[in-house]
Amino acid sequence: MLSISSRLSADGTAAFGFGGDYNPEQWHPSVWQEDVALMKVAGVNLVSVGIFSWALLEPSEGRYEFGWLDDVLDLLQESGIRVDLANASASPPPWFSHRYPQSLPVTANGVRLGYGSRQAFCASSPEYRRAAAALTTEIAKRYASHPAVVMWHVHNEYGCHNQPCYCEVSGAAFQRWLERKYDDIDALNEAWGTAFWSQHYYRFDEITPPRQSGTFVNPTQVLDFARFSSDELLDCYRAEADILRAHSPLPVTTNFMGFSMGLDKPIDYWAWADHMDLVSNDHYLVAEDPRNFQELAMGADFVRGLASGGPWVLMEHSTSAVNWQPRNIAKRPGELRRNSLQHIARGADAALFFQWRAAKAGSEKFHSALLPHAGTDSRVWREVVELGADLVAIAEIVGSRVCGAAVAIIHDTDARWASELDSHPTIDASLLNETRLWHDALYRLGVTTDFRRSTDDLSSYGLVVVPMQYLMTDAGADSLRSFAGNGGTVVITYQSGIVDEDDHIRLGGYPGAFLSLTGTRIEEFYPLHEGEEVELTRYGSGRVFSELGRPLTSEVLAEFAGGPTAGSPAITRNRVGMGTVYYVGTSLTPAGARELVTEILTASSIPVPQKSGDDVEITRRSDGTRTWLFAINHGSADAVVTVDGVDLLTGAATEGTLTVASGGVAVVRETVA
Ligand code: GAL
Repeated sequence: MLSISSRLSADGTAAFGFGGDYNPEQWHPSVWQEDVALMKVAGVNLVSVGIFSWALLEPSEGRYEFGWLDDVLDLLQESGIRVDLANASASPPPWFSHRYPQSLPVTANGVRLGYGSRQAFCASSPEYRRAAAALTTEIAKRYASHPAVVMWHVHNEYGCHNQPCYCEVSGAAFQRWLERKYDDIDALNEAWGTAFWSQHYYRFDEITPPRQSGTFVNPTQVLDFARFSSDELLDCYRAEADILRAHSPLPVTTNFMGFSMGLDKPIDYWAWADHMDLVSNDHYLVAEDPRNFQELAMGADFVRGLASGGPWVLMEHSTSAVNWQPRNIAKRPGELRRNSLQHIARGADAALFFQWRAAKAGSEKFHSALLPHAGTDSRVWREVVELGADLVAIAEIVGSRVCGAAVAIIHDTDARWASELDSHPTIDASLLNETRLWHDALYRLGVTTDFRRSTDDLSSYGLVVVPMQYLMTDAGADSLRSFAGNGGTVVITYQSGIVDEDDHIRLGGYPGAFLSLTGTRIEEFYPLHEGEEVELTRYGSGRVFSELGRPLTSEVLAEFAGGPTAGSPAITRNRVGMGTVYYVGTSLTPAGARELVTEILTASSIPVPQKSGDDVEITRRSDGTRTWLFAINHGSADAVVTVDGVDLLTGAATEGTLTVASGGVAVVRETVA
């Protein structure tokens, strides 16, 4: 991964990126001078420009007007503020959609979406692709050597509003994609199980996208369409990134939405990450989620996985309320600081926001910004300025990596997509919820977790959690088997390893892919009623799911004590080679998960930090020589953390223990023992 941190300061000293989306075109040029003056006050050193500027940059087809953008970039350059320059392909202008209405996306029920918002295009549209490439070429030619520009921002949040598209053009592209994948139609028929319901195809050109039909559409068709749709957008990204790279050596990125409220669903981020010079992510808190800080931590851990463990860019978050949730709750004093430093604690080398100046018009006028409607005499502005100073105080950490993660959580995109298909045992089983349950149990104990794919090298971990990885390839199952065989500990939950990559059941007892690992054979699922809990003989109660099965080689740690499968194993432990595999056949309560995780960590000799309070988050970054401990207290009581060193935020030395006030943060350069 490339880095931009040494280009953010005048003297080349590495700095955290601090700033956000800057949309000067929404303001009269007389405001721009004040913008840069205030950016300097706050310590802003990086802004993203041009993301939604297509309509102004290209007023009619092939006619470009860059004058205002030249002025903005020159002004930023004079002020020493660096630019993440967009290629502006995210929002085709009205003239484009008007002229090429066939480029507008179509929903599964055949409705062609209108324009007037953003991202109004079909990823397979040749007109869109041609126009985006032409615009990107002009921008690359004009600004490749502009001294303010340090990186390229392709598009914006791919797939956020326009995916998947079910139009005829997408349908034809889907047929070509399928032909490349399967080569012959019989292979497709086999993979899609088309003997069912008379779905046999004789030619690729008979196939359509999985449009709305009378009832459930073929699930493998839906799964392949999800894969195709992600690939189709990736083609768009790659074409535009290639143009930028041909004109300039600067790093190219596009902003991901890792785990964001399901908006990330259309994209296989693992596949995309290989095409980024720098991984970047947007994260917005769900204001009404009482543990939204843990959801933030999980999202950041996932993005760090996409960045192969190295630093990444937090491209957007919010200083306070957003505009698009049912109730847009403002952040409380100190929350902005905690959120930003939390991302940094988990590997971000930049804390950028949407957006610099709060808009006065348009759909996002109630969205918070670094500079609020109220101006500089405001709580948000004061907190922004303080955060700018904090980032300078901890600048020595830039470029270091999060260290000490002894636990990995497996998250395969195909498993996620397949787990969300129709006609499953219960709508209450959710891969994301189950992932969050296990991440949260580890989070409460202060244990840092990485995210990995099942086929990744897992050898550096002591414990690997497999939460509801419903679809499992042979390669993934082999990888986990050898991890366990070599002495690792694995936790596998219900609804894991149920199907192969074609969404075909693995026969002979569940969980088919993992039977030899779990040593527990499940013969029938017994999903629970909505809200029902069944008692277990240990670890509290189970929710969502229960199962009828029996141990083959495993030892039963807990049985279902009540409910339809009373007496059947709920939690088992199996020895596999030199390792241990736990199987959990239900969704535990947070308390039950904590109890089990604590036992597993102890049995696996994985250290747990010394701290008081569940909501005190502990992580470390290291540059190989020095380590820094981040302690962030989201709880309502002060907390005590065991650490020796100097808190960079206050300059105070700590010996042995440090008290982190409720809502407070400490970033301690640790004393080398
Ligand atoms: C992001 C998007 C930004 C802005 C922001 C508002 O998803 O990239 O352009 O819309 O949300 O929260």
